[in-house]
Amino acid sequence: MKDFSEIKEQVKSKIAEVKDGAQLSEFWQNYLGKTGVISGLMKEMKTVPPEEKPLFGKAVNDVRVWAQEMYQTKQAEIKARELERRYERETVDVTMPALKRAPGNLHPITLIKQEMIEVFAGMGFEIAEYPEIEDDDHNFTRLNVLKDHPSRDMQDTFWLTEDLLLRTHTSPGQIRTMDAERPPIKVLVPGKVFRSDSDATHSPMFMQMEGLVVDKGITLCDLQGMLDKFVQQMFGSGTKTRLRPSYFPFTEPSVEVDVSCFECGGKGCPLCKGTGWIEVLGGGVVNKKVLENCNIDPEVYSGLAFGIGVERITMLKYGISNMGLFFENNLDMLRQFK
Ligand code: DAH
Repeated sequence: MKDFSEIKEQVKSKIAEVKDGAQLSEFWQNYLGKTGVISGLMKEMKTVPPEEKPLFGKAVNDVRVWAQEMYQTKQAEIKARELERRYERETVDVTMPALKRAPGNLHPITLIKQEMIEVFAGMGFEIAEYPEIEDDDHNFTRLNVLKDHPSRDMQDTFWLTEDLLLRTHTSPGQIRTMDAERPPIKVLVPGKVFRSDSDATHSPMFMQMEGLVVDKGITLCDLQGMLDKFVQQMFGSGTKTRLRPSYFPFTEPSVEVDVSCFECGGKGCPLCKGTGWIEVLGGGVVNKKVLENCNIDPEVYSGLAFGIGVERITMLKYGISNMGLFFENNLDMLRQFK
């Protein structure tokens, strides 16, 4: 009876040489596969005398099982080694400094917008937002800016159709509020407005805040009192206001409002161009025609209105001289407002 010790020696030395998965499958093919050495042993069965066939068969099978065990042990070794290598490759050094991610910050316009809203909300104003696309009626006609009236030329309108336009101011918010609510009304309408105009102090898109108060016995004094409070909270408690007569079709009388220069305290400096005063907004007593256009009886009710440019307030507050800086997305500039 053959003891296959020669083959076993061969298997032992070959398996010892196996270093990776590819060599391992080569080993399988050479010894355990269909055409491998051990399968070849079975073919010798024909030459074995019949009474020895069972024993021979068992002996070959023992060799096969033994070789398979060698194979499996090696396979486990290789797997373990590969896993080890992978762990080494994917090791994370937790002591390495992390990538820095700079947290973002709010845009200066947003900061001032929020601050302004807070001040007016503190005086009891409701906040309302309305569409940026308006029609002629709301943006002009019902605000007493009649067709062919020269005051339409004060605002360089982006027309979309014969009737639709990008709102040139937040004043149509007055009409929309009075259509939806009855007095007493106290509303603040922040929002984007659009005009075909662009230079250091004008941008084709900018932000305004419209204020409207309608009730019995509202006067210009209420406007000044309210605005005094507003500018004192925005620019400091010593800030004063000054009203100058002006003209807006939707207010009568109309005023332009200056604040005492918070930079020089009114002595005169480059910011106020030597005058001691800085213009910050327009306003007035709501024109009776506008109240009538909204079915509010001007004999019973009166109102005040004002419009503030948010960019202008922001430029004054932060000493920014070019409006373009707000829209260039220059991070060096924007990061200063953390
Ligand atoms: N809508 C005006 C503008 O954009 C600003 C304004 C002036 C609004 C007087 C008002 C107001 O409500 O009473 O130039």
